[in-house]
Amino acid sequence: MAGANLESWVVRRGVAVVIDGSAKIRDGLAAALASGYWPLDFADIADAVGRVRVPPAVVVLGAPASDNPLPVRSLRAAPAFREVPIVLWRRDGMVRDRADAAPDAAGDAASGGEGLRDVVARLTSGVVEQSWARLPEAPRLALQQSRAVCKDLARLVPAGRPLAFAAIAESCRPLLAAVRNSEHRWVFEGLRGHDDFDYAHSVRMAALLGLFGMAAGLDDQELMTVVSGGFVHDAGMAALPADLKTKVTRFSEEDRARMRGHVALTVDYLERHTDTPRSMIAVAAEHHERLDGSGYPKGLHAGDLNDLSRMAAIVDVFAALTEDRPYRAAMSGFQALEVMGELMAPRLDQRLVRLFRTVLLDAAA
Ligand SMILES: [Fe+2]
Ligand SMILES: [Fe+2]
Repeated sequence: MAGANLESWVVRRGVAVVIDGSAKIRDGLAAALASGYWPLDFADIADAVGRVRVPPAVVVLGAPASDNPLPVRSLRAAPAFREVPIVLWRRDGMVRDRADAAPDAAGDAASGGEGLRDVVARLTSGVVEQSWARLPEAPRLALQQSRAVCKDLARLVPAGRPLAFAAIAESCRPLLAAVRNSEHRWVFEGLRGHDDFDYAHSVRMAALLGLFGMAAGLDDQELMTVVSGGFVHDAGMAALPADLKTKVTRFSEEDRARMRGHVALTVDYLERHTDTPRSMIAVAAEHHERLDGSGYPKGLHAGDLNDLSRMAAIVDVFAALTEDRPYRAAMSGFQALEVMGELMAPRLDQRLVRLFRTVLLDAAA
């Protein structure tokens, strides 16, 4: 029972169905998608239609050099593929993202320099974002406004150009409202299948901190601090190269050091704007610190870390362990809490870990 409830917090990547007659091409396409999807590959459409019963996130269909709409029609006739985005990939490397439009009607819908992974990301995220229109107001605004700010941050952070704190706080208001109204389920559901991993992680962190903060009895100002601090806690990630973030193999020591640099990048960025509250910057600055001094970047100890930073550390660990990452699969919610309560016992505040567990069980996504 408890395990089942916790399972609803786990975020798994979507399935990408890859169809091509050549095993070599299928392997290449699967590898191009592996950082964000579980590829399932088939030699032909009939095989895919016969074996795939649950709609995948996307289909990548290897196509001959001349566009032929017939294969797409036969795929669309199968229930599991009726509404799934289909991407046509050609042997010359061209990608068409409107595979089901007649070639002449679509004009030249070739992707104009976007790679396969970019086209797939745009299409699958677009499907998720369209689904937000059907949500109640607070979760809909929470998702839409946080998405707009994340897109701004993705542009501004690498350029070192600041974003006013007011814009961040404004985008967190409907998120906090959704949490207060017990409409958080819609927010978590609305993130499922979104391809922008940094975005989905940031909103999950903010919403989970909102739930946790309410259970911990934080006042309004502290709640806003943890929610907005949670939302931007990894903002510096936007300045890290995509090839590092999508790496599917084990990290080298150097990779690890570069990844750890996201904390300093985040703090530097947030400090550029003098109106960003110090308490909010602290949440971002200290979410990888640990009570026993084993964290980073400063190796702070229990006495240096207030409840807000301790809560941010707990939520970030849980969120990270229960999300599929390019280089490893997600743990179950139960396993994640076990790791946090046993292996990580000296590092995380166990009184707060126990409270967080009850929050997760009460508020199953
Ligand atoms: Fe982080
Ligand atoms: Fe994080």
